[in-house]
Amino acid sequence: MDNVERIIKHRLKVISCSYDIKGVVTQELDCDTIAKYYRASDLFYRLVHSRLGRSIHMGLSDDGKFHMKDFFKQAEYVARNFSEDTRNVLEIGAGMCMNTDYLARKYPDIDFVALDLPNRNFLKMKVPRNVMLVEGDYNNLSDFYGKFDLIYAVETLAHTENKSRVILELYKALKSGGKLIIFDYYNVLPFRKMKKYEKCAYALTMSAMKTPYRGQQIDKFVKDLKDAGFTMVNVENLTEKIRPSVKKLERCAKIYFQRPVLKILQKLIVEDATMNGITGYLMDLVFDGKRIGQYNRIVAVKL
Ligand SMILES: C[S@@+](CC[C@H](N)C(=O)[O-])C[C@H]1O[C@@H](n2cnc3c(N)ncnc32)[C@H](O)[C@@H]1O
Repeated sequence: MDNVERIIKHRLKVISCSYDIKGVVTQELDCDTIAKYYRASDLFYRLVHSRLGRSIHMGLSDDGKFHMKDFFKQAEYVARNFSEDTRNVLEIGAGMCMNTDYLARKYPDIDFVALDLPNRNFLKMKVPRNVMLVEGDYNNLSDFYGKFDLIYAVETLAHTENKSRVILELYKALKSGGKLIIFDYYNVLPFRKMKKYEKCAYALTMSAMKTPYRGQQIDKFVKDLKDAGFTMVNVENLTEKIRPSVKKLERCAKIYFQRPVLKILQKLIVEDATMNGITGYLMDLVFDGKRIGQYNRIVAVKL
């Protein structure tokens, strides 16, 4: 048994003392459950994760250390893909609109649409005038077919198991020549090929943040994109860039799983929010970038 395997097994044991592991990985993950999870986790994301900011995604760090500016790297990458002809841009699963807000201020001549589930007064969010806020489910983008030059998604498609369905919607919502940019969590090995403890750790890491552990395999995702008609599909493994953000969460999770803290928090905070501790405790080990989990940037073009 190598050291990583030993630590993962130990942490699974610690988690099992406080949570029903089977219950966590078999929970229903429909849109209502996801919306409820984000309401419950709001304080956690604001105070612990983004330090009073609006980020609900990982920072991308270039020097092995976390800096607040790392939360803007996904949006900066999206901006590098704008051209003189870019007029209409959609962000799906926009969350607190941190990415869209940043881009809309920098590019006042581009019209942005930010879409998220009806939740947390999404339509009342303060955004620049060139942003239209839309409540909806990205599994149905029929109001927007053929409208966008670019669509981007930061850590949101992981919430859906049926990727081919969303990919078709995204394809239809893009204009010919339009670009799709995705930042998200995937598994490398097909789930069935993982070892038992890897399956358990991966399934828990994903399920605790209300993302299904099935339907996330990167090669299958690329195939689905190509089957839908996307070309020039490019995958970049950015796992090491999220490492400092992941380590930050791991430090909190280690404190959380020290029993006295856990007992107090479990009494005060709803379980949907405390479960983020499970993801934080396992993620650094599960997202190894090679065998189990990977954080990828995917770019594809509709011809
Ligand atoms: C991890 S947050 C990321 C938010 C934002 N992209 C960011 O980078 O800060 C995921 C977001 O996806 C949204 N989401 C999940 N499933 C969705 C769906 N089917 N349709 C629209 N939004 C969805 C959630 O409500 C949540 O706000």
